[in-house]
Amino acid sequence: MSAVQLLWASLVLGAMSALLSDGACVEVDSDTEAVVHGGFKLGCISCKMRGEVEASATVDWWFMAKGEEDFTHIYSYADMVGTVTDERFVDRLDWNGSKKTVDLQDGSIYILNVTFNDTGTYRCYFDRMLNFEHYEYRTNTTKFITINVVAKATRGMASILSEVMMYVSIIGLQLWLLVEMVYCYRKISAAGEEALRESAAEYLAITSESKDNCAGVAVAE
Ligand SMILES: *[C@@H]1O[C@H](CO)[C@@H](O)[C@H](O)[C@H]1NC(C)=O
Ligand SMILES: *[C@@H]1O[C@H](CO)[C@@H](O)[C@H](O)[C@H]1NC(C)=O
Ligand SMILES: *[C@@H]1O[C@H](CO)[C@@H](O)[C@H](O)[C@H]1NC(C)=O
Ligand SMILES: *[C@@H]1O[C@H](CO)[C@@H](O)[C@H](O)[C@H]1NC(C)=O
Repeated sequence: MSAVQLLWASLVLGAMSALLSDGACVEVDSDTEAVVHGGFKLGCISCKMRGEVEASATVDWWFMAKGEEDFTHIYSYADMVGTVTDERFVDRLDWNGSKKTVDLQDGSIYILNVTFNDTGTYRCYFDRMLNFEHYEYRTNTTKFITINVVAKATRGMASILSEVMMYVSIIGLQLWLLVEMVYCYRKISAAGEEALRESAAEYLAITSESKDNCAGVAVAE
């Protein structure tokens, strides 16, 4: 990582944490590429449309493996307790969503020790109860995330392209700066020579004048 990238990253992170600490909710899309044997966060965020209204929510997850045709319930989270309901995921799912609250807006879960069999589509479901002063309102949100399990992490084309563009622009700027410097140096030194020539001519003029003066004085004497 270069200094420029680090600077940007810290600026963006700073802005984001400022937003999040204000309680602002941002629905970020989940990653979709998991690496085998690694961990993977299945992201699922559902913001309340009215952030100030008190609410409570439960989150459920389903999974449809690649090649299957039906979703199977794998996980539910309610009253701050998570339960794995599918033997393929026993001891492999952890809650990564909103903590210490029943007012869930982040329903993400974390898969430990990913296998190729985890390839497929996940469905995330929020069941939310909004508590207004005189009534309750029930809403739900469903999101689908299709993940691909790979042997090794690959980089997206956009990320590679943006890095190339970064180097091109940095090198371009440096070259431009160099050209500008050479140009200015030559201009200044040319101006300097001109000035030298002028002052030399002036010097000669003065000395010849003073010679004349001297001559004048000598004559007078
Ligand atoms: C998500 O869960 C994993 C496994 O328990 C843990 O290592 C990681 O720190 C958690 N991340 C967040 C943001 O809670
Ligand atoms: C992950 O699973 C593989 C088999 O799928 C197993 O060989 C390995 O020991 C597991 N690693 C951990 C850290 O559980
Ligand atoms: C993946 O699924 C196949 C077929 O269902 C099974 O035989 C195999 O043991 C599974 N592998 C892992 C690592 O769970
Ligand atoms: C989710 O909400 C819609 C209305 O927005 C409703 O028609 C549907 O039945 C709800 N689904 C469940 C499972 O409650």
